Amino acid sequence: MQIKDLKFKEFINKVKVQQQVSALAKQINIDYKDKSPVFLPILNGSFIFAADLIKQIEVPCRVSFVKVSSYAGTASSGQLKILIGLEESLFNQDIIIVEDIIDTGLTLQKVVQELKDLGTKSLELVTLLRKQPAREKMFDVKYIGFEIENEFVLGYGLDYDGYGRNLEDIYQSVI
Ligand code: IMP
Repeated sequence: MQIKDLKFKEFINKVKVQQQVSALAKQINIDYKDKSPVFLPILNGSFIFAADLIKQIEVPCRVSFVKVSSYAGTASSGQLKILIGLEESLFNQDIIIVEDIIDTGLTLQKVVQELKDLGTKSLELVTLLRKQPAREKMFDVKYIGFEIENEFVLGYGLDYDGYGRNLEDIYQSVI
């Protein structure tokens, strides 16, 4: 399959993806048995994963989609990432951030710090995919769907230059 200048081949088929999403939901249902978490899916990439995951959550929960936006800071501070779209009060809440993929983990590090500053009760992360570099950073992610190497992937919400989010399977780029 060709998208723009890149070729892609199937990597994780939709059956495997759905099995893993169900396994993650099952574990979250156990861990949050007597709790009422607030899910914060990070747009755009996590919209399909978040929908499939949250449909299988059986504890009372809320959902608030957020976006990480970069803006040019001062010359010395460079690019700052800020969280936009947060409507729920997160003070004293059990938060679960929902990500599509963690690559370097740098984006999430900023988001996690910003959320902790709001006085959350607990903060955990669920990601469908995690790449090798993130593992090297020892980023503390409680729920991980698939550990992958450093390949570029798309499908199931993930994009290449805006395309490919609609695909049900996950693909990887080939040279
Ligand atoms: P990080 O700050 O390096 O962890 O960046 C994570 C973000 O980069 C993800 O939320 C994705 O939006 C994007 N990203 C990283 N790797 C890929 C990939 O292989 N395919 C599509 N998007 C990716």
